[in-house]
Amino acid sequence: MATQSVTNYDDYIHEPNCTNLDHIPGDYGLPVIGHTLTYLKDPFPWALERYKEFGPVSRVCTTGVKGVLALGPDLVQQIMLDTGRNFSSKMGFHTRVQQFFEGSLIMEDFEHHKHQRRIVQAAFKNDAMKHYTKEINRIYDRALNEWESDVDKTIPFFMHIKDLLLIVAAEIFAGETDYKGERVRQLNQAFLDTVNGIMYLFPINLPGFTYHKGIKGKKFLQKFFGEMIDEKRAGDGMDMLSFFSREKDEFGEYFTAKEVTDQAIFLMFAAHDTTTAAITHTIYYLARNPDVKEKLMAEVDSIDLDGLMWEDQDKVPYMQQVFNEVQRIRPSVPLVPRRTIREVEMAGVKVPAHTMIFSFPRFSHWLEDYWTEPAKFDPDRFSPERAEHKQHPFLFHPFGGGAHKCIGMHFSQMEYKNFLFKFLKRYDFESKHENSDVFMQTFPLPKPSDDMPIRLMRR
Ligand code: HEM
Repeated sequence: MATQSVTNYDDYIHEPNCTNLDHIPGDYGLPVIGHTLTYLKDPFPWALERYKEFGPVSRVCTTGVKGVLALGPDLVQQIMLDTGRNFSSKMGFHTRVQQFFEGSLIMEDFEHHKHQRRIVQAAFKNDAMKHYTKEINRIYDRALNEWESDVDKTIPFFMHIKDLLLIVAAEIFAGETDYKGERVRQLNQAFLDTVNGIMYLFPINLPGFTYHKGIKGKKFLQKFFGEMIDEKRAGDGMDMLSFFSREKDEFGEYFTAKEVTDQAIFLMFAAHDTTTAAITHTIYYLARNPDVKEKLMAEVDSIDLDGLMWEDQDKVPYMQQVFNEVQRIRPSVPLVPRRTIREVEMAGVKVPAHTMIFSFPRFSHWLEDYWTEPAKFDPDRFSPERAEHKQHPFLFHPFGGGAHKCIGMHFSQMEYKNFLFKFLKRYDFESKHENSDVFMQTFPLPKPSDDMPIRLMRR
């Protein structure tokens, strides 16, 4: 059967994006810029308007790319479960991130993807998770002691948590423990340059341009990780790169250095900004919802532990509801792109082969048909009694689904819960926005645009 035989990239990766979408309801927006401005400002109201006018499938043009907007839980299910192997993640991400993440999990499809996923899975087994949890507790204790010097000051919370999670990444992902040393500084700088590089306006590979810096950052990371692989293979390290390096394929052979470094670089990217956004948004919503903050602090106070170990993660059910509500209202991953491999019917519309598909988790997460007052921050909607998210298997999907479902789903929630647990045991805070109507940006990274200033207070 043709639909089940896509194992050969030659079938579709050399085809250009389909731009002949005139038969699909919708429009391409303004000349040259298309819908780019409204989309970048806030994709949700834009998508909702289009949904009301054109239905769940409409043609659009954003950031210079023509494609199809696919909205609502049924289409998300079709795209993510992809039982007919109709959607390519590799080609969905290709245009923007190819130079940076070629070969990584998100840029592989089907058998190729399954083969590579084995490398990464090696680092997420139970014993490894126990080890990371213990180490993360130690790193947080150290950091929160250092934050004492910020008590009674106003700090940009986003920058603080971003730096802290970079230190976590250097140690847990790469085994770099000298967190104030030159190697960690270089590693983190190269990582930041790479991430900035992905957000380029024009892909100009000349000194001075963000894109160029990004490419240099990526080369640095390849070398940095690549040079450690032999040593990691020979050792018994418990950092993620060690697990990746020691993993063998189905023929008993080690994966190549390039395969290991490709996965390691993407892992840092996939892990860092997402969890940073989740914690920053939590601080934003807790500051605006004192009743939720109080309830969360009461839960934390009721547990007589200094920190949560791996087996303690279920001891904070209300914190889990808060995490879910933050992901519902401001998902850390705002866009899931794919490209069709062949003509495929979506909600009754024939979408041609090689068409870019854009899907926004926040669209389903804010649908009035399912959620009570979707714009309201209300963690109790995830309580066992209300369980609003259970109305459709793909109504709430912050971690994606199907073959590409987030491999760090449990890790990120452990990182999140352990931080909040320790932070709220020790500190209280109030927001210090200059403009109380702060702009909540979606791109390049979802966060309050002013970096969430807070006044840090000892409890
Ligand atoms: C709040 C935190 C996080 C959120 C909301 C999140 C969300 C997602 C989503 C939506 C995808 C699927 C993207 C797609 O299908 O196009 C994904 C994939 C992925 N995530 Fe996460 N993520 C988070 C944290 C992490 C962490 C901490 C790690 C690693 C430690 C991680 C590693 C990955 C990897 C490797 C993939 C690619 C999986 C594949 O293609 O097979 N993520 N994540």
